[in-house]
Amino acid sequence: MAHYLPLSRVARLVGVTRSALQKMIQQGELATFDGMVELDELLRVFPDIQWQDEGELEHVNAIKERAFAKRILERTLPDKEVLAERLYQLGKELGSAKSLLLHYDQVFDWLCQQMSEVAKDMGREPAAAVLALKHQLRQQLNAGPEEAGRARSLLAEESVMRIMSVHVTVQPSGHDFFVEGNDTLLEAALRAGIPLNYGCSSGNCGECKARLVSGQVKKVHPYDYVLSEAEKANGGLLLCSYTAVTDVVIEAEVAGAADIPQQIIQTRVRNIEPLTEDLLALHLFTPRSQRLRFLAGQRVRLSIDGAEGDYHIASCPCEDRHIEVHVRRDNRNFARKAFTGLHKEDMVTLTGPEGNFVVKLDSHRPVIFLAWDDGFAPIKSLLQHVMSLEAADAMYLYWVSDRLVHYQENLCRSWVDALDNFHYRPLAAQSGLAGVIAAIFADHPDLARFDIYAAGPAEFVDAARDAALARGLSLLGWHSERMD
Ligand code: FES
Repeated sequence: MAHYLPLSRVARLVGVTRSALQKMIQQGELATFDGMVELDELLRVFPDIQWQDEGELEHVNAIKERAFAKRILERTLPDKEVLAERLYQLGKELGSAKSLLLHYDQVFDWLCQQMSEVAKDMGREPAAAVLALKHQLRQQLNAGPEEAGRARSLLAEESVMRIMSVHVTVQPSGHDFFVEGNDTLLEAALRAGIPLNYGCSSGNCGECKARLVSGQVKKVHPYDYVLSEAEKANGGLLLCSYTAVTDVVIEAEVAGAADIPQQIIQTRVRNIEPLTEDLLALHLFTPRSQRLRFLAGQRVRLSIDGAEGDYHIASCPCEDRHIEVHVRRDNRNFARKAFTGLHKEDMVTLTGPEGNFVVKLDSHRPVIFLAWDDGFAPIKSLLQHVMSLEAADAMYLYWVSDRLVHYQENLCRSWVDALDNFHYRPLAAQSGLAGVIAAIFADHPDLARFDIYAAGPAEFVDAARDAALARGLSLLGWHSERMD
């Protein structure tokens, strides 16, 4: 019985990123079938990985530690009924596997019996050969598969994972994500950076309507929106009201910038964090009932007491209610207010989002991010989005500091420490625009397979674009935001 695992779960089991696995697939090092990896193939390709023996209860915690990132452990367990249903599903699988084994056992006994009967009517030599074959068959069966120990432990670890979090595949986009804790399908998708279409997030508008293709879901929040009988019969569900009980496949719309409506939200100032003398990070919180729908890289208008200004969002849509913007000291009304008279708990009106400087979700190419001074704000948002999607093979960040210092340098360094495929190079504008451009592109003589996202003054963005195109970048791979 072949046992297949989705790529995302394999990534968690072996502790590598999905993009690293995709690279192995492209290079022919790992075989897949329909995007799934067979258990024996997994054991073959990762011969050095040892999984804990599932027989000992005390090892379960260790399995969980490795199976889930720390932040997930800190979050709540799934709903009791969901847990019970997942255990029941696992029990059912175990039951069918056991009955199949019992059947194979009976077939094997029957075969041995037949061999003994046939041998009686044979001459001495052929009979001895048949009986020797029977003996060998028994020996093979008693020995068990070569990798039995590792396979058993891997299956145990995967079973724990499947109880704690289930895997969702989105059609037709092919995105996938995990549902953990008590998250609805919508919350889990947004946390994973997948911008599924939605509106109210409370069961009223029907914008998050999707179709269940396979697997089981459970309603966790009541809703007022009325699904027609035909929709229900066709697997219709609201992503903001349902969670997944088993691994599921759903059909749902992924939103682009044009699909996201303008919103006006009263946000609360959670923190005003000075980054340098001339720059601060403003941390806003949206109300629980009205989260901001936006895509990484977009901007919003902020206003308070008649002072307003447009700012790029520096946080990731996967951060739920938290919105971060970087405000530099300049002649915008809002900047003056932010540096002189803004306080914690003040209410700031947010209008937006705007802009098309967003991640290309279907690209799995290496990505270069270029930021000039506080052009880092949208780049930070995009970077975190790409990280949460685990979409890119490799990510390179070049951050040029001109009048501002590299004000969130520690964050960039921590990404370098945490991710094998992230590279960071701070640059100083003092070496001149030509010098900066030369330094960036000296690392990348051939850009045919890249995507580039650049944010900063027009002069910088244009020079970078020309240099990139001269090195073979496709026009479709260039994405930029001028921030003059
Ligand atoms: S988002 Fe409005 S019903 Fe789900």
